[in-house]
Amino acid sequence: MKRALGPQNGVFPTPIPLVMSGLGEEASMLALAWIMPAGSKPPALAMVMGRRHHTWELIERCGEFTVNFAPARLFREVDYCGVVSGRDRDKVSESGLTLVESAIVGPPMIAECPYNHECRLMAEYDLPTGSHMIVGEVVQSHANEEVLNAEGTRADVALMDPLVYATGNREYFRLGERLEAAYSCGKTLVKDG
Ligand SMILES: Cc1cc2nc3c(=O)[nH]c(=O)nc-3n(C[C@H](O)[C@H](O)[C@H](O)COP(=O)(O)O)c2cc1C
Repeated sequence: MKRALGPQNGVFPTPIPLVMSGLGEEASMLALAWIMPAGSKPPALAMVMGRRHHTWELIERCGEFTVNFAPARLFREVDYCGVVSGRDRDKVSESGLTLVESAIVGPPMIAECPYNHECRLMAEYDLPTGSHMIVGEVVQSHANEEVLNAEGTRADVALMDPLVYATGNREYFRLGERLEAAYSCGKTLVKDG
């Protein structure tokens, strides 16, 4: 029996990367759960980011940012970046996270986050919902050696142990076991004839 809950916007779990912008000493980051791929040629990411956030001010100024996926063990650091503003605190020093230079864009990446995208702001939209959406073109992606797949071409999610966020009860989780290969296991249900 289903119970109507009233209209909700729950989509979960989601990744919860740290989005970083700003140059040099100014660099700062926020936690962001509303993110999705938005193109493949060129690769692009769309996210909803409040205009009131300090991180948005930094992106607006320099036009560039990085998206850094944290391992599950850094749940406290990620949450910290989601409850404190860079306008009031030095989030880099207080979180204890380490910055590393990006290859192409000005804002740095986060060393402890094993998978990162360097992005240039491509577009921004004020949605009819009142939310503010931004789209970033991914100009380079990086993975730490220890999370690379056997071919060395992609990050292996099992090795990353990524932090995920569940909107429902507002909780952090880590992923469970691998089930099967996508885009193929469903074909076993196709009935002949
Ligand atoms: C679990 C979690 C998810 C969040 N997701 C988003 C999001 O998708 N978009 C957004 O604009 N803010 C999101 N926030 C809020 C910002 O991270 C938060 O307001 C942060 O303090 C802003 O920092 P800043 O002012 O330094 O940019 C989230 C916070 C948490 C804790």
